Amino acid sequence: MRAEHPRLEARLAALGIDVRSGASLSELTSLGIGGTTDLLRITKHDSIPELIGLLEHHDIPYKFLGGGSNLLVGDGELPWVVLQLVRPEPDVVLDGNLAHVDAAADLGRMITFCAKNDLGGMEGLIGVPGTVGGALRMNAGAYGMQIGSYVREVKLYRAATQKIEILRGDQISFEYRHTSFAPDDMMLAVILELPSKPYKEILKGIRICNEKRRSSQPLGQKSAGCIFKNPPGVSAGRMIDELGLKGLSVGDARVSDRHANFFVNAGHASAKDMLTLIADVRERVQKSFGVSLENEVVVWNA
Ligand code: EPU
Repeated sequence: MRAEHPRLEARLAALGIDVRSGASLSELTSLGIGGTTDLLRITKHDSIPELIGLLEHHDIPYKFLGGGSNLLVGDGELPWVVLQLVRPEPDVVLDGNLAHVDAAADLGRMITFCAKNDLGGMEGLIGVPGTVGGALRMNAGAYGMQIGSYVREVKLYRAATQKIEILRGDQISFEYRHTSFAPDDMMLAVILELPSKPYKEILKGIRICNEKRRSSQPLGQKSAGCIFKNPPGVSAGRMIDELGLKGLSVGDARVSDRHANFFVNAGHASAKDMLTLIADVRERVQKSFGVSLENEVVVWNA
């Protein structure tokens, strides 16, 4: 999709939007899969309502991209443009136990920065790639914690009102890999309230989580983390493993040898390969265990 119309281009420039024509989503996603479209990079939160109004006026469909680490994007010329926040500097500002964080901040860097300032709680998410906004939207969690537990306030662009709004943490529901945000709400910033802990102690927790992750997940390979959600009380990875499906491939899309709920791009996998592999594994699990696995990965297929 192209955002090319002389009048639109001038308005976008006036709003401080940096347009990257024909951007390849394979370079913006951790799976390394995805076709091309125009990428509109937002430098000022305040420009978003007008930006959305312009796109709708010109009948240009759009999607919001975070860090691209939990995302499977379709192949070829994509039928929508992609909006992404430009990370400001600084992206984390501390005020006592409160961390004011821009949604474009890198999750891991935010956790380490807070740790160095004796603020903990987020150790479990160390090593999870992506932005704070992405982690927030899906309530990322690991090793018994979830980001939602620490949310004091969220600034977001709300699709329903087409306005920038502030929500208190208790106005949002955070469930397992799910939140009450609408699919086309855009996370802009968050205030996290983090418990005080000495840096050395936080570091211990960080090292333990890092070690667990390193020993059980294919960290060096292109993946989107876990492909399926865990059904209540069971591990999707364990079921797939029990069926002997590690190493199962469609083209270069492959079930990881290390963790069966991670599907990796072992070369030049297409979205079609990955989607075929996902459907195949889902069907086999359904047949053998009678369990219908739900995607954890977000799919943007044309
Ligand atoms: N297991 C196997 N074979 C495998 C994978 C796992 O037998 O190939 C077994 C493990 O030995 C363990 C059990 O299954 O006994 C659970 O495995 P693990 O601790 O790796 O946890 P998981 O349920 O597979 C969940 C999250 C991960 C998160 C880890 C750690 C989901 C879908 N997955 O994985 O999150 O990192 O716990 O807290 O909720 C993600 O969201 O992308 C993700 C990777």
